[in-house]
Amino acid sequence: MKLKKGKKDLDWAGLGFNYIKTDYRYSAIYENGRWGTGGLLSDEQISIHEGAPSLHYAQQCFEGMKAQTSKDGRVSLFRPSLNWERMRLTASRLLMPEVPKELFIQAIEETVAANYSWIPPYGSGAALYVRPLLIGVGENLGLKPAEKYEFRVFVSPVGPYYKESGLAVINLAVSDMDRAAPNGTGNFKAGANYAGGLLATLTAQQQGANEALYLDAVEHRYIDEAGSANIIISMKDGSFITPSSKAILSSITRRSLMDIAQSELNLRTDERPIDLRKEILDFNEVAACGTAAVLSPVGEIWFDNKWHKIFKDGKSVGPVMQTMYDLLVGIQKGERQDLFKWLRYIDL
Ligand code: PLP
Ligand code: COI
Repeated sequence: MKLKKGKKDLDWAGLGFNYIKTDYRYSAIYENGRWGTGGLLSDEQISIHEGAPSLHYAQQCFEGMKAQTSKDGRVSLFRPSLNWERMRLTASRLLMPEVPKELFIQAIEETVAANYSWIPPYGSGAALYVRPLLIGVGENLGLKPAEKYEFRVFVSPVGPYYKESGLAVINLAVSDMDRAAPNGTGNFKAGANYAGGLLATLTAQQQGANEALYLDAVEHRYIDEAGSANIIISMKDGSFITPSSKAILSSITRRSLMDIAQSELNLRTDERPIDLRKEILDFNEVAACGTAAVLSPVGEIWFDNKWHKIFKDGKSVGPVMQTMYDLLVGIQKGERQDLFKWLRYIDL
């Protein structure tokens, strides 16, 4: 599809993380044991049967990634194969059919290209958020997997997730609620995990935090993750660590930042259980990371009835997280050499 290269007249720099209707979305249907030919649609509504298992039993999953305009004007996706792989694993856990990799990538690229005028320009601080979803849509009543599925991809231009500006310090509040059990679905991107977390996020926000921080569901000691992002920590001994847990989402952003910390900054990296109360005094800087969150330094954490400052006054961005942010975003915006070959450029 060759399109006019004009841009929408949006206040790109003023965008928040909200749904904005764009012109096209992609849909493909799985029925009778196979995927049909998909294509672009303009209707943002989905009409599904009232008995659909996605509505009753949360047989659905989703992904999230961003398309960004590089300095040279090209548009790239960040490691989309890893999103495909994660959706494949989630679909398998929820007894849904795998979306073939070619279909997954093609649907995303077609949707992004078709919505060219909605892709925020280079330097605006905004990006085009890409949301692939897979839902059980056929009629069903008993507890069994759907026979029919829709794979859909829509996009929306977005700005920062937690705050108004790019690299802003956020606060987290430890939740009394559990997000996921060790052998549950916490390590899969299932919508059901998020429905259960809405109250925890709201509670955290009422306490003055931006998001909930979950500890492990067994002992409530070890850091799991935030409601919408993983956690990374720069320790006072110079190491760079992240929690190992069977219950957290395997963040593509976190994996990338750990690689950057190790090979670009020569930091000693480790993925291990992190005991919040025991180790907090050894934390130098903490950040939440994810596609929507990018890298958001954490200023203070609420637990045991008080706020605990992490770096300095709890309001400043520390040098380690600033450097990590600059390196990651520099690659994503095509400002730095993509040594890891993480960007996939879209043919527009
Ligand atoms: N953890 C949760 C619960 C998330 O929703 C997300 C967002 O996708 C992440 C972590 C970060 O994952 P990624 O970096 O792959 O976007
Ligand atoms: C993402 O970062 O892509 C997510 O899916 C998080 C979501 C809660 C907005």
